[in-house]
Amino acid sequence: MDGRICLVTGASAGIGKETTIGLAAMGATVALVARDRKRGERAIADVRRRTGRTDASLFIADLASMAQVRRLADEVSERLPRLHVLVSNAAVITQTREVTEDGFERQLAVNHLAPFLLVNLLLDRLRASAPSRVVVVASQVEREGSIDFDDLQLERGWTRLGAYNRSKLANVLFTYELARRLRGTGVTANCLHPGVIATRLLDDYNGGGGLLSFLRRRGTPGPEQGARTTLLVASDPALADTTGRYFREERAAESSPQSRDPELAGRLWRESARLTGAGA
Ligand SMILES: NC(=O)c1ccc[n+]([C@@H]2O[C@H](COP(=O)([O-])OP(=O)(O)OC[C@H]3O[C@@H](n4cnc5c(N)ncnc54)[C@H](OP(=O)(O)O)[C@@H]3O)[C@@H](O)[C@H]2O)c1
Repeated sequence: MDGRICLVTGASAGIGKETTIGLAAMGATVALVARDRKRGERAIADVRRRTGRTDASLFIADLASMAQVRRLADEVSERLPRLHVLVSNAAVITQTREVTEDGFERQLAVNHLAPFLLVNLLLDRLRASAPSRVVVVASQVEREGSIDFDDLQLERGWTRLGAYNRSKLANVLFTYELARRLRGTGVTANCLHPGVIATRLLDDYNGGGGLLSFLRRRGTPGPEQGARTTLLVASDPALADTTGRYFREERAAESSPQSRDPELAGRLWRESARLTGAGA
């Protein structure tokens, strides 16, 4: 990965931080996106301590805000001369229905609309840097997701897992549609399930009861293991031409039938473009 510039969202914790460290250890120049400067700086210090690399850079953005996503894309375009890998990894699970400053349900905003907007705003940079890769960290729970276009903001019947599973289905649909749109450009788009990994998000998935240390004691794998599939998809030379695929346990796998429905993906793309004002 020498000379490759890689941007990772959600790089301040969990799988994203380990992904950043893994990419840096492989020789890449890494750029971290964090919403909190202190946590971001701590992650940069961890990259330095564990890989010896001193060229990691930090971008600050709260991905719940579409204005901040736009500012992030501008800053990335300004500060990074090229972009070879964009890892969309940040995600959130809330315990109650929250609405962002843009009026979006928070999990839809952070987990789907933010990556949709960020990738679309950085597409020219990715194309100009080809061969390049978009890697979307989704989840196996996409299988449980459903998308109701009449109630995309889940104003009726919001549940924690209903919102999360739907956002992860959206990740897979987005990746496949992106791959279709990018055919022949030298930019690939793939998504993955990282495994069931002991992080704060898994705790939040289970209701936020503070079960992390219990999960770790019980042997649930940690973020280092969780970063492996992302690292493979981001870097393996054998995957240079692989696009529009879903991975788990470090190999290609099948995602759910609904995630492979091109009509659903096309409709979600159009709706996301309308909501974010990009990608039309
Ligand atoms: N853990 C699992 O078992 C599992 C399973 C399947 C899929 N995944 C996926 O793996 C990815 C990484 O999750 P994880 O388990 O590593 O979770 P995590 O430890 O909770 O990390 C989530 C990351 O996203 C960032 N983030 C959350 N909201 C944000 C916002 N509004 N703006 C900017 N950054 C934000 C967090 O930043 P802060 O540090 O500021 O909070 C953190 O860096 C997610 O896409 C998740 O859906 C995880």
